[in-house]
Amino acid sequence: MKDIRKGPLKVVGREPSARMTDPEPLAEDLKEESRLRPLSLREFVGQNAIREQLLIFLEAARRRDEAMDHVLLHGPPGLGKTTLAAIIAHELGAEITQTSGPVIERPGDLAGLLTNLGPRGILFVDEIHRLSPVVEEYLYPALEDFTLDILIDRGPSARSLKLNLEHFTLVGATTRSGLLSSPLRARFGLTLRLDYYAADDLARIVQRSSGILGVATSDEAAVEIARRARGTPRVANRLLRRVRDFALIKADGRITLPVTREALTLLEVDERGLDDMDRRLLEALIHKYQGGPVGLNTLAVVVGEEPATLEDVYEPFLIQEGFIKRTSRGREATALAYTHLGLKPPGGPGAPLVRETPTQPELPLP
Ligand SMILES: Nc1ncnc2c1ncn2[C@@H]1O[C@H](COP(=O)(O)OP(=O)(O)OP(=O)(O)O)[C@@H](O)[C@H]1O
Ligand SMILES: [Mg+2]
Repeated sequence: MKDIRKGPLKVVGREPSARMTDPEPLAEDLKEESRLRPLSLREFVGQNAIREQLLIFLEAARRRDEAMDHVLLHGPPGLGKTTLAAIIAHELGAEITQTSGPVIERPGDLAGLLTNLGPRGILFVDEIHRLSPVVEEYLYPALEDFTLDILIDRGPSARSLKLNLEHFTLVGATTRSGLLSSPLRARFGLTLRLDYYAADDLARIVQRSSGILGVATSDEAAVEIARRARGTPRVANRLLRRVRDFALIKADGRITLPVTREALTLLEVDERGLDDMDRRLLEALIHKYQGGPVGLNTLAVVVGEEPATLEDVYEPFLIQEGFIKRTSRGREATALAYTHLGLKPPGGPGAPLVRETPTQPELPLP
């Protein structure tokens, strides 16, 4: 893949000190991810609805012998947007040029990218919600009828020239589809929303990655890693690599269930994928504020995090898994949050909290 991203952006990845369960790429993920990335739709695990739609779309484009319609991929980080963009190109035998919204600063940058695409080429724009309005405006005619208006000269002799482009496919990706303007959204022929993965699909991803990394992983161990991976393949692959290292040093190199449990306990990732920070958050909510509701800013001060980080990084998973609720009056702990921490959910107003078991109970997956 031609990668013409210039800025540091996400390409750099976060520092190793960041969380094990961060869905954004850490520095350690970057060199490994390309190795573990499925190349064809057949290898892409899960997201069945998306796979089916894409199969039809790809086949139709092949039969018509045309560039495929523009595709928008959206969903939380680490679920496979970049992977799918590369798969689309691979399946069509097309060349893909990768860039990112904030990197295309001026219309001229966009013109350069588009005029360099070959016939039926694919332009992959990551973080497409960060395109500037001027660039976006300039993109519309290119998407609609593959033309660009180019301004030649300045002042009185300025002329506008219509330039014909090769037919191409724009693949846009975003984690914040709400920030996309509606005219841009309307120009995609296919919009695909990626969702968190079910544990059995993640277990298959763990087994597939184990094969590529050349490590023997038992089925129960793969399921255990999958359950703790927050529905996110990037996290599953990262946990797998850490467990692999642990197995190599502390055991005979094979990834078994006991080895996995021990490694993940050491990494402070519990059996529902919650880490130390998640638990501190729930504990603060329950012990300091009787389960809430409590405002985001107050909660942020108590756990020593930025409110924006709480909202963007920690909360979505806790809400999705039903540990907290976001209400108009603030955040509230659910009954699940209490039981997960070994506490009895409050029966009514003022009911005392009773710690039932010293350790966290095993909970069935939803
Ligand atoms: N369906 C899948 N099957 C197998 N592996 C997957 C799948 N989806 C994602 N992965 C793995 O997870 C890693 C992260 O996926 P990817 O980079 O495509 O996520 P993303 O949605 O683009 O994330 P971001 O929003 O951070 O850009 C990839 O390296 C790939 O190995
Ligand atoms: Mg990506």
